[in-house]
Amino acid sequence: MLWIPGPTEVRPEILAECARPMIGHRSKACTDLIDRLNPGLRFAFGLQSDSTATVAVHTCSATGLMEAALRGAGPRILSVVGGAFAKRWGEIAISLGKQVVILDVEWGRAVAPADLRRCLEEHGPFDAVTLVSNETSTGTRTDLGSVSDVLDDFPGTQLFVDLVSYIAGAPVDFDVNRLDFGLAGVQKAFALPPGIGVCCVSERYLEGARKATNRGFYLDPVSFIDGHTKNKTPSTPAIGLYYALAKQLEDISSGATLPKCDAGKTGAAAWQARFAKHKRMQERTATWATSHNLELLPPMAEASPTVSCIRAGHVDVAAFAAALKTKGFEISNGYGPLKGATFRIGHMGDHTEAGLETLLQAADEALGEL
Ligand SMILES: Cc1ncc(COP(=O)(O)O)c(C=O)c1O
Repeated sequence: MLWIPGPTEVRPEILAECARPMIGHRSKACTDLIDRLNPGLRFAFGLQSDSTATVAVHTCSATGLMEAALRGAGPRILSVVGGAFAKRWGEIAISLGKQVVILDVEWGRAVAPADLRRCLEEHGPFDAVTLVSNETSTGTRTDLGSVSDVLDDFPGTQLFVDLVSYIAGAPVDFDVNRLDFGLAGVQKAFALPPGIGVCCVSERYLEGARKATNRGFYLDPVSFIDGHTKNKTPSTPAIGLYYALAKQLEDISSGATLPKCDAGKTGAAAWQARFAKHKRMQERTATWATSHNLELLPPMAEASPTVSCIRAGHVDVAAFAAALKTKGFEISNGYGPLKGATFRIGHMGDHTEAGLETLLQAADEALGEL
């Protein structure tokens, strides 16, 4: 069973949606299918009922949507980098010829609002700030509220946020946190097979993007977002994954994926209950780590609700992961420079608290054997 930080386990009902008979992508059946996605996506991005933001889906992974976001952006980018995926934002911006300033943050820490403010003041003005809400490489969550508070004083600067391992695991509050481009793949807390990406954009992002030149073709944000608004796609979409996403969004909204204690919750309450489940699983994992004299890489207040990154301490990570694998459970070694120094448990998506207990019991046994 996959307890890595994504792709995560996919329910059989969702896999079955991927195996439905094909339909033409210009058919009414397909426009109806695209239409089914919007209500659930609006919940996932936490849009208010009067929100003017637009949700969209594209057939590419999250990295494709990072590139798409930047293709519609102005030239001056501030990239907040505290981990491997945040670094990717900066690399893509540089590859597109943007003028990029990197604000380096210690891996395992969220950006301090005062540092962000200082950088905006000293090196700005910027057209956009890029950051990662939940750095999968370090298990660190950045509080979007504290970032948007700073950006309130820089009204010309847009906010682009990678929500890859965050959305559907914790509240995004796109409008309240004044995001301009939020994006994610679907193989993390949405618990789908990988292959499509979801995004949400502000009105001002779209206005700016329409004026941007050299937006490319496949990753032109205006093309696929305008297409989605008309229930169309500019090229052939991954139809099986669209079916899977429609069912998963509807199942989350109807409360079908919730534990018994949350029975009867639907709509926004069901989404909140899903977020609360992730938080409980994070707390349980942290308690388990403490019981083995291990600690999280980030401070508890900045710990990710979906990915626990635990300092290895006395544990031989490779041997521990191998022992767990023989018991049927997969976890991840640390990412890049953190390999061997940390290990990561992905408690996201449709994983249950009962399932987490079986993992932690196996982890106890594995550590005992080592
Ligand atoms: C936070 C974050 N951003 C971006 C990505 C890249 O996603 P993809 O490989 O689906 O393009 C990942 C993948 O793990 C991620 O965890």
